[in-house]
Amino acid sequence: MSEKFYVTTPIYYVNDRPHIGHAYTTILADVLARFHRSVGNDTFFLTGTDEHGQKVQNAAEKRGVEPLQHCDETVIRFQELWQRLGITNDRFIRTTQAEHKRVVSEIMQELYDRGEIYKADYTGWYCVGCERFFTEKDLVDGKCPDCGRDVNAITESNYFFRMSKYQDWLIDHIKSNPDFILPAFRANETLGFLKKPLGDLCISRPKSRLSWGIELPFDKDYVCYVWFDALINYISGVGYHTDADNFARRWPASCHLIGKDILTTHSVYWPTMLKAMGLPMPKTIFAHGWWLTGNSKMSKSLGNVVNPMDMIDRAGVDAFRYFLLAEMSPGNDANFSEDAFIARYNSDLANDLGNLLSRVSKLTIRATGGVIPAPAELNADDAELADAVNAAIATMEESLKSYKLDQGINAAMNAVRAGNRYLEKCAPWTLAKQGDTARLHTVLHNAADALCRVAVLLAPVMPEKMSELLAVLGIADGQISGIAALKEFKSVAGATMRETAPLFPRIVVEETEQSAAPAAKPEKKQPKQEKKAAPETAETVGVVTIDQFFQTQLKTAKVLSAEKVEGADKLLKLQIEVGAETRQLVAGVAKFYTPEEITGKTIVIVANLKPAKIRGIESQGMLLAAKDGDTLKLVTTDGEIASGASVG
Ligand code: MSP
Repeated sequence: MSEKFYVTTPIYYVNDRPHIGHAYTTILADVLARFHRSVGNDTFFLTGTDEHGQKVQNAAEKRGVEPLQHCDETVIRFQELWQRLGITNDRFIRTTQAEHKRVVSEIMQELYDRGEIYKADYTGWYCVGCERFFTEKDLVDGKCPDCGRDVNAITESNYFFRMSKYQDWLIDHIKSNPDFILPAFRANETLGFLKKPLGDLCISRPKSRLSWGIELPFDKDYVCYVWFDALINYISGVGYHTDADNFARRWPASCHLIGKDILTTHSVYWPTMLKAMGLPMPKTIFAHGWWLTGNSKMSKSLGNVVNPMDMIDRAGVDAFRYFLLAEMSPGNDANFSEDAFIARYNSDLANDLGNLLSRVSKLTIRATGGVIPAPAELNADDAELADAVNAAIATMEESLKSYKLDQGINAAMNAVRAGNRYLEKCAPWTLAKQGDTARLHTVLHNAADALCRVAVLLAPVMPEKMSELLAVLGIADGQISGIAALKEFKSVAGATMRETAPLFPRIVVEETEQSAAPAAKPEKKQPKQEKKAAPETAETVGVVTIDQFFQTQLKTAKVLSAEKVEGADKLLKLQIEVGAETRQLVAGVAKFYTPEEITGKTIVIVANLKPAKIRGIESQGMLLAAKDGDTLKLVTTDGEIASGASVG
């Protein structure tokens, strides 16, 4: 039965230049939307820009233009990038649009009339960069707790939303809806935040200080706080107060995709606002981690921002989409490096997937002129390949529900690798020489069929390349649309394959390459991969570069609690604090430390290790310990230091 699916991205600050962090969320939303559309779900995908507030006002003043003109000129950067990346958003909302402004204004009036908004004096600490007020106790060393910059003390009359009255309700809602905030450790983070009394939310700014915003309908001297205005985009964008039918059709949202730094605004402000409006809650708020470069969050001031356009020029749109989704395990941070990008492109796409396609097409054209033959009797090798493909389909379906698309993509690539192993093992070239036509046809059919199914699975991730791949197999666009159709699809037998140029030309890196490298081209230059495989000398064996070292992200972590894992006498299950986050980690240290001994220690962990299941328990990282024979000692810090500090 068809379901509804409504997905949103954050609306991006119009001032910023889009970087791969913004691109990641938008591509993730796009892939989810494409998957849902492909199975016939009633899908809506909203993205847009956040255009009010201090930063925009300041930037416009600096340029000597009106704020709206500034927004009109800068919004194009996002719109062009989304077009280039093949983003299929159904609407692009701008908070300066008249309709959105009217909805925000009406909501404010309604809440004010019902006493949900009131006026009071307020002294707070304001961070211009984050556009947020903080109370004294929120500050860290007297600075902004989010960005670490200086804050200014401000006392003024303002309007407040009675957020505090919804605290108990919110705690209960989070606890009784395990899918409301994902991953689960982010729900714990929000519950941790809600242990302290929740204040009311200051939702106005006096025009004397900030004029670029939506005017309060009940007091012309004030404009609306930019977050209160921005969050409302999720309902104004689908017809709240303007198109009742559309709103009933779309709301509540299935998923708000966000980055971890805007968790509180989405998991505390937004639900309480909705509750006060009497609206149902979104099903899921999914917070992903950050893209880091060289172990730091990308930021203009550090000068480590990766421009998506450069990467697209280098390897194409689909390879870029693939890399971002395959590389990041969405709950955790991921590191971006050009080396990692090229290595994954060459190994997964050029080698594994591209080679499987070109081998199958060549062999089939040689054997039958291109028509994919029908299979004869099946054996254990065929079953093994079919199992890998079925596992990929099941994992992809599961990963769509849990928003961990990297797992589905990984399973699809496992099926591709199983396809290559299958060809090696069944050796169709030998079968052809031996004249064993029945077996040859079976092998060619099964390999082509596996490729076809993988291409359908990966189509939302790499729409253009997978449509090219299917065309090589003789499958028309839209012939098999989505996982449901894939399950019904009998076989590729009878389709006519055509010859193909490499689908993903290997990226070759010149020895003297500078950062501004040429686009991917299949030329015979000295490839970096081959350069790396040059004979190792005594000096280079086991040597890593500083860049390679920093791909491993080491951090301090505090052990909050520990318990033995039932049925595994070596394992302890730890809950650890890594900065603002709580993680779970499974470690083989039970023979050396009791849960009581390890609790409270500050240890060192590999923070960007792909999460793994150990004895069915998720482990998000690995701790460091030194081992000498029968002795094992944890690596700890020389004295007190905050958890989440980087080690290196
Ligand atoms: N305008 C607000 C959102 C309002 S939503 C009602 C905002 N904008 S932002 O442009 O600063 O950030 C938008 C999103 O980009 C956030 O989800 C943030 O987490 C994400 N990212 C910014 N830098 C990032 C990385 N380096 N990596 C991954 N995502 C990051 O906040």
